[in-house]
Amino acid sequence: MTAPLRTVPLRTATPDDHEALALLSAQAFTVSPAPFDPARRPYLVDDARRLVADADGRVVAHAAAWRFGQWFGGGRLSCAGVAGVAVAPEHRGSGLGTAIVTELLRTVRAQGDVVASLYPLNHRFYRSLGFGLSSVRRRDRIPTRELARTQPPGGRRDPGVTIRPTTLDDVPGIEQVLIRRARRGNGLLDHEPRHAARFAGIASASTYAWVAVDAVGTVRGYLLLQRATPVDPVEWFSVSVADLAADDVGTEAALWRLVGSDHPGARTAEACLPPGSLPRLAGEREIAPAEEFTLMSRLLDVERALLSRGWPADVDGSVLLDVVDPVLAGNGGPLRLTVRDGVPAVDRDPATDGAAPIGVDIATLTSLVTGYLDPATAAHAGLLAGATGQDVATLRRLLAGPAPHTVDFF
Ligand SMILES: CC(C)(COP(=O)(O)OP(=O)(O)OC[C@H]1O[C@@H](n2cnc3c(N)ncnc32)[C@H](O)[C@@H]1OP(=O)(O)O)[C@@H](O)C(=O)NCCC(=O)NCCS
Repeated sequence: MTAPLRTVPLRTATPDDHEALALLSAQAFTVSPAPFDPARRPYLVDDARRLVADADGRVVAHAAAWRFGQWFGGGRLSCAGVAGVAVAPEHRGSGLGTAIVTELLRTVRAQGDVVASLYPLNHRFYRSLGFGLSSVRRRDRIPTRELARTQPPGGRRDPGVTIRPTTLDDVPGIEQVLIRRARRGNGLLDHEPRHAARFAGIASASTYAWVAVDAVGTVRGYLLLQRATPVDPVEWFSVSVADLAADDVGTEAALWRLVGSDHPGARTAEACLPPGSLPRLAGEREIAPAEEFTLMSRLLDVERALLSRGWPADVDGSVLLDVVDPVLAGNGGPLRLTVRDGVPAVDRDPATDGAAPIGVDIATLTSLVTGYLDPATAAHAGLLAGATGQDVATLRRLLAGPAPHTVDFF
């Protein structure tokens, strides 16, 4: 190992760094890296949201942040999707990773983001920076012949939609379908408009996309498929559902049947099947887990996150918190969250009326606010210092909702 690098100056990236960053990233994450392709630059993170560190005349560390919206309780949090965090092997363990991620968090908060989320390779490193578990991206494998006969519970009904291949003009309608789904769930992302070609399935030759359109031309459903080398030697190809979303169960069934129509060329399809997705509700017990990644998040701006998240309209409640955040100044300290008729208010200088606040670190608070961690479980684990039974019950009522899940990998 070389001398400690935690004081190395950090800078934003420029296009001249892209090839070196591709090499750094390949060394950190891939078995056999693809050749550097400058044509893929439109899909890269903006350089203004990409930090690098140089040592010995070369780039030795990198951290970047996509810009998403992430939805919790029906409300949208401006989200930094942290990606590509890598330190050159010979410089690891000297504080450089901590320094570059901390600076990235400050940078994206200054740009208006209120939460940062990422798929961690290592949890301990990110926990030390205030990240807590927040969502799951789970992929399952399901037989295509099973999908081919998908029907809504209660039997077939005509969804009144036409399914056709997607064009770029459909992208705004697709985004609305995805946002309507995100409002119903917890943890789902929306995307920057410049990724339209990906949504439309025209960004790569092995990707296909369809929309389900109703009688007046409104997009009601969306399917994005990828073809890959077969999993099973008797298959011609395997099918991977990158995304499938629909406004109603009849349209959802029609889109799953379309996936199933690749039987028997493809024997199985891989897809995210969260609780409540139709193959889980209506299918046979032939679903097998294929892959699971946990998402970690950390609130960048506690007050704005609490005000942006959605809250139930029919539950009123108030809790007094004392937040501990050693990494991002401004988050720590006492606050009172009050929710009335679905409207949140945050008082940063709260009257305590003699009550002791609930002591909570930023990682735990994030896991609670995202809906990943049940407040009673957190209290049981000793993560809510001084919380009374009434505090826990109030938090539970306010934060009740579907288990978070995420579809996109970044
Ligand atoms: C993860 C990585 C970015 C950390 O950078 P780094 O400069 O080595 O990290 P730091 O020196 O700042 O370490 C800070 C703390 O994080 C933890 N940590 C760091 N690397 C870790 C690892 N590989 N596994 C588990 N914990 C780790 C340690 O607790 C460390 O604290 P300590 O020094 O008191 O033990 C670097 O190891 C790396 O590039 N790894 C390969 C790519 C990768 O995993 N990237 C993260 C992708 S999500």
